[in-house]
Amino acid sequence: MAASWLLLLLLGVTDGQLQVGFYSKSCPGAESTVADVVRQAGSADPTILPALLRLQFHDCFVRGCDASVLVKGSNAEVGNSKHQGLRGVEIIEGAKTQLEAQCPGVVSCADIVALAARDAVAFTGGPSFDVPTGRRDGKVSNLRDADALPDVHDGIDALRSKFRANGLDEKDLVLLTAAHTVGTTACFFLQDRLYNFPLAGGGRGSDPTIPPGFLSELKSRCAPGDFNTRLPLDRGSGGVFDTSILRNIRNGFAVIGSDAALYNDTATVDVVDSYSGLLSNFFGPYFRQDFADAMVRMGSIGVVTGGSGEVRKVCSKFN
Ligand code: HEM
Repeated sequence: MAASWLLLLLLGVTDGQLQVGFYSKSCPGAESTVADVVRQAGSADPTILPALLRLQFHDCFVRGCDASVLVKGSNAEVGNSKHQGLRGVEIIEGAKTQLEAQCPGVVSCADIVALAARDAVAFTGGPSFDVPTGRRDGKVSNLRDADALPDVHDGIDALRSKFRANGLDEKDLVLLTAAHTVGTTACFFLQDRLYNFPLAGGGRGSDPTIPPGFLSELKSRCAPGDFNTRLPLDRGSGGVFDTSILRNIRNGFAVIGSDAALYNDTATVDVVDSYSGLLSNFFGPYFRQDFADAMVRMGSIGVVTGGSGEVRKVCSKFN
């Protein structure tokens, strides 16, 4: 027993915990470099900020937060249609190139994804928060692994169980989905909800839970067969990080089906209500703080630490 502990110590294997400021000695400029890259990218194209936030969700929900989503290759997970529309990979790669020049082989791609998402939240007006680092990059990326990602067609039970499978509860589900306060969706993700929704009496049509006026509005923006037009996920407040997405969900103005599903279940309805009342800004629960905490929890899913995995030289390729 004592011998195996000694061996672990000699190999430099840590206890597998992430820690705030992991690079403070080994690469002191790591966090500021990522922030500079994200700030510049966001000034050139503000739509890249929500894309970077979504990228962390897609990284963490497939094999954990291990940068498996960044790997390219014929069987790599990024080819899975669940990752449709994913953007921002080149921003992560750009930060990686700068960090390799500063401190070769030190800062993992998985940490860059987490830091970039944190900075993207702050630059869209969301909370600023500390992100524990020390993730290492995984050595596997499989096309089919991304099947596990939540889907716009998922009902509340499927969403809850996919979050639970990653150690996240109903509160996390609501808080993290509220990331849809910023960013847009392609009409691709609305086609079935607007034109091909299975109806109770048989046949197909529009999701009957969409209020009639809002249905006409959505149909006028997303014509049948239009996959590419984009519209804000948070109706009326798309560019701003706030709780209006939760009021929209409560009032029937959710744009995608999975957001609407959050108001179909007592447990999540209560969470939506608790954050969408105007008084919660004054008396809590405090959305900004709780969102930040949920991001940190999401960022800890299945992390590779210590002596496992690797620090990739290039984010799109295993070493
Ligand atoms: C609950 C399950 C979820 C589903 C089914 C879902 C689905 C989607 C879909 C379909 C889009 C539109 C993609 C596009 O057309 O480019 C989207 C966008 C987005 N998602 Fe989610 N999402 C979920 C949870 C999350 C979580 C947990 C986060 C982050 C914490 C997140 C962050 C975002 C952001 C920021 C965008 C906007 C991306 C952009 O403007 O480029 N989503 N999501």
